Amino acid sequence: MSEKATITLEGKSYEFPVITGTENEKAIDISKLRGQSGYVTFDEGYKNTGSTVSNITYLDGEQGILRYRGYSIEELAEKASFTEVSYLLLYGELPTADQLRDFEHSLTQHTLVHENLVKVFEVFPTGSHPMGQLMTMMSALSSFYPDSLNPNKSPEATNLTVIRLLAKMPTICAMIQKKGKGHPVLYPQNKFDYVSNFLYMTFGNVTEDYTPDPVIVDAMNKLLILHADHEQNCSTSTVRIVGSSHANLYASVGAGVAALWGPRHGGANQEVLEMLEHIRDIDKGDVKKVVAEAKDKKRLLFGFGHRVYKNFDPRAKILKDACDKVLAKLGVNDPLLQVAKELEEAALTDPYFVERKLYPNVDFYSGIIYKALGFPTPMFTVLFALGRMPGWISQWKELREKNEDIGRPRQIYNGATLRSFPDIKSRK
Ligand code: CMC
Repeated sequence: MSEKATITLEGKSYEFPVITGTENEKAIDISKLRGQSGYVTFDEGYKNTGSTVSNITYLDGEQGILRYRGYSIEELAEKASFTEVSYLLLYGELPTADQLRDFEHSLTQHTLVHENLVKVFEVFPTGSHPMGQLMTMMSALSSFYPDSLNPNKSPEATNLTVIRLLAKMPTICAMIQKKGKGHPVLYPQNKFDYVSNFLYMTFGNVTEDYTPDPVIVDAMNKLLILHADHEQNCSTSTVRIVGSSHANLYASVGAGVAALWGPRHGGANQEVLEMLEHIRDIDKGDVKKVVAEAKDKKRLLFGFGHRVYKNFDPRAKILKDACDKVLAKLGVNDPLLQVAKELEEAALTDPYFVERKLYPNVDFYSGIIYKALGFPTPMFTVLFALGRMPGWISQWKELREKNEDIGRPRQIYNGATLRSFPDIKSRK
């Protein structure tokens, strides 16, 4: 017999079906609750609300498990390339050698951006934040591809938009960095793979040859894979809710970029590095004082805590290890890594952090690697977006393929009740 949940309200009982996922996650399907009883559920911050049934990413916060389409993040980070993982997220299965070759070839065919899009960069003042620029570029893309404005045209048309967006993302991200430095932009080179091309456009120079260092290519592949999807987090839920209004893909991911920018989400990677520098320079490395201030709610420890992971963040584990290896291979001796390790140790042995299950998250160590690779701090969240792009697109695609209902939460109104409009002279 299928499981049911019974809710009793004002002496009347209502039965609701229980949904069980493939990993035995259970949810009470309350979609008919309001229609039957007049009640809605209340869950500020959606801490306890399943917004969709998805086949893409599985996450178990208690066990520290993260899987894309059933494959563990540890195995993917170890064995796969970012394009392979992108294919897996988008189409549901790992590609065969032929499928991967075709996929990578089609990506190379769409890496260029319209020259007028490059001119958009001219309007940004010096020092404007890369994430603001990325948001602009995402919505600007829709102007250059009016055929993409109707997301219901055909699966072929959608796929072309998907490929275009994924292909242009490294070009746009690299241009943001180049323009930020006042350097000439570099155009993509089809001889390079996806990640090497990005590194070439970012760190190459028009005046000389550039061959991406395999150590950096490997580190970048790992970083992008670790960020590629994370089920219904703040930016992904944003992409899905915008997409649910049948907004085009560029508009939907532009909204995702906006959500990611916040320091409680992807923006935390920039904050972590700035925090570590502050601890090194201003707090003179006194991590105990920093932890004490965090406990007194005087400051937030960026890179700590997660809405879902309450044991450890598997991405942070992989990154901590990768951080040691990358810095050693590049011969970088960054004192910030020592500050980070001391802060981690001080926090993890403190009852405040232990009781609240606050562990280092993906953003804690990623910034130290990005810095070692040569990225300026304000670019860090753009790199998160570059990695998250296949995830956002896959989630948008899944939503469209299922033709999910428009996202429209309810609220509990707690403002003034009906009152009559007073004449302006009588107002106090
Ligand atoms: N430093 C100090 N205290 C913290 C922290 C932190 N980083 N995170 C949570 N707490 C405390 C919080 O004050 C609360 O304490 P109390 O029980 O006394 O009120 C308790 O821990 C529970 O916190 P919460 O805010 O209810 O937890 P949440 O699940 O709503 O928030 C979070 C999760 C990630 C927003 C939060 O931990 C945070 O702001 N962390 C710092 C920012 C950060 O690193 N964000 C990146 C998240 S991972 C990558 C991504 O998703 O982009």
